[in-house]
Amino acid sequence: MSSHTGSHEDVPDENLPGERTARGEAATREENPFADPGLPPHEPRVQDIDQRAAKRSERTVALLFTVSMLATVGFIASYVIFPIDQYVHIWPLGEISALNFSLGLTLGIALFCIGAGAVHWARTLMSDHELIGERHPVEADEDTKEKVLADFHQGAKESQIGRRKLIRNTMFGALAVVPLSGVVLLRDLGPLPEDKLRHTAWSRGKLLVNQNTGEPLRPEDVTVGSLVMVQPEGLEEGSHDFQKEIAKAAVMLVRLEPEDIKDKRELDWSHEGIVAFSRICTHVGCPVTLYEQQTHHVLCPCHQSTFDLADGARVIFGPAGHPLPQLRIGVNDDGFLEAQDDFAEPVGPSFWERG
Ligand code: FES
Repeated sequence: MSSHTGSHEDVPDENLPGERTARGEAATREENPFADPGLPPHEPRVQDIDQRAAKRSERTVALLFTVSMLATVGFIASYVIFPIDQYVHIWPLGEISALNFSLGLTLGIALFCIGAGAVHWARTLMSDHELIGERHPVEADEDTKEKVLADFHQGAKESQIGRRKLIRNTMFGALAVVPLSGVVLLRDLGPLPEDKLRHTAWSRGKLLVNQNTGEPLRPEDVTVGSLVMVQPEGLEEGSHDFQKEIAKAAVMLVRLEPEDIKDKRELDWSHEGIVAFSRICTHVGCPVTLYEQQTHHVLCPCHQSTFDLADGARVIFGPAGHPLPQLRIGVNDDGFLEAQDDFAEPVGPSFWERG
């Protein structure tokens, strides 16, 4: 052990615990360098000696709790005011839902202000005497219980919760009001989607647009053996609801020899052997993309469901429980391919049909 460790000159007198002398401390450290150095002397805060500073802190805490209450009211108001499809430009987030932004902002402020108020209260007004909590058996004896109760009363007294009614009342107000946010969100349990999932952006007369070029397609653009990704005209890639709509309306076009088509309805709904099927796998909704032109099979890359496009997109392998829905197509007066109607059944995972 080096002599440096035991030198009491290293420790300023003012840093030593009140009850111990510097000499006694140095002697203790010489005997045991790992001994508990004890707590530094308590330094009163400005709020402990200046009533006006204490009052200022009280008002700050009350202000934070009040702001929390107002933010909760703002949360509820936002929920009622903003429609779900209203978007705003917020720098630097860009284009985002006004409803989501206001809900997140107001709830964040409400919770932050409760936390900040509690921390400020504890740091400036509650007793700041440091205590040493000795370890003890888990099961409390009667004496301990009485002591806990006494400590609780002492804590309540030192926190001044009884005396500072403004803080107490605003804190209870903030805590009572903040759960209302959760209650209001229960409104999202309804209404039921009804038949929204049964409809897509396709309707009679909608042109079939090449998803890569954005150009409407003519029958001669679809050659035998090729697979063309298609979306309905009017669906803009940058629009807010593009992802929602394309998730239901994505279609693939394939040209088969008409004599190869085994299913009569498929033949009726095709145009010169060109057939249009939903690209959304009926298992759990992955896009079906792998086309095998010799067999007319398409394969879903997620769990290998395989559909026979020459036979009504029947499932010939894999977990999908339903054929891919077919879109009935024709040609308009200008020679462009167009839809004859929306899909006749829900697209995507077949459990939607039970909704
Ligand atoms: S999502 Fe297509 S097979 Fe599972």
